[in-house]
Amino acid sequence: MNFSEIPKTELHLHLEGAAPPAFIRRLAQEKGVNMGGVFDENGAYVWSSFVEFLATYERACEVLKTPEDFGRLVSAVLEEQAAHGVIYTEMFLAPDFCGGGDLIAWREYLAAMSEAALASPVEARFIPTCVRHFGPEQARVSARVSAETAGGLVTGFGMGGDESQYRAADFAYAFDMAREAELGLTSHAGEVEGPQSVRETLEALKVSRIGHGVRAIEDPALVAELAERGVVLEVCPGSNIALKVYDDLKAHPISALREAGVLVTVSTDDPPYFHTDMSAEYRALNKTPGWTRADFDAINRTAMNAAFCDTETKNRLLAKFNGA
Ligand code: ADE
Ligand code: ZN
Repeated sequence: MNFSEIPKTELHLHLEGAAPPAFIRRLAQEKGVNMGGVFDENGAYVWSSFVEFLATYERACEVLKTPEDFGRLVSAVLEEQAAHGVIYTEMFLAPDFCGGGDLIAWREYLAAMSEAALASPVEARFIPTCVRHFGPEQARVSARVSAETAGGLVTGFGMGGDESQYRAADFAYAFDMAREAELGLTSHAGEVEGPQSVRETLEALKVSRIGHGVRAIEDPALVAELAERGVVLEVCPGSNIALKVYDDLKAHPISALREAGVLVTVSTDDPPYFHTDMSAEYRALNKTPGWTRADFDAINRTAMNAAFCDTETKNRLLAKFNGA
């Protein structure tokens, strides 16, 4: 099987986290910014724990300054996506890094990113995200600019960052604002924290999708509830393994969740940080029992049905997955 040729939908991709190291280095050179400590001697991003990963990520983001920088980044990331057969992608991006929550500035960033996305062969949507460890106040600022610009390519709102900080309920106001603007909702949970974090997130933030959610497997009642409610998990196996949530794919719960009737999808999260890409994710899954070409089409249909986009786009893209 040529894995890069399988058509794919990716629901969980951080724009900043997808920045190829060479892209960040080139920008740093152009601007004369010192990137010491961000890259190792082979030019890869340096980190060795979840907290360090977040810190390196934020350091790399310091070089992304102007709307033009972000437009160039969207083009580079979507080009990479297309090379791996991705036909529909939803990109998380933090307003904190795009003008710090100033609405006029945010609109300029959005215009540059939208122009780049619309010029790409990949159908893309943006999911502005708040960063959990920046706190609930800042999350409200992000939600406000997201709500103000809902429509066009902005179709969702989400939350990433350090799951061990704050409680999900602290972000309810931000998510309420986004819901009122009719944005689709998703939040990271059950990645570094356990099932209770997933429960609190569903309860307080009323999201239809959970970023990761894999640690729900530790609570069979929660797994049954996720299946019954049709909550969609944005599972990123390579990310979980790189961050040492699981030792390897054999120990990863994606297949068990799926067998329990939970709606799972497959994404890469922050591919260069985790030395992965969509083709590599599919290739690795294909080596584990129960994953065939038909299963890939099935998870892509699940992803497309859960996508934060209009029905016409959904139906057009669903037709690309066999058995639609
Ligand atoms: N931001 C980017 N990648 C993330 C991850 N895997 N978990 C939480 N926040 C993130
Ligand atoms: Zn993520």
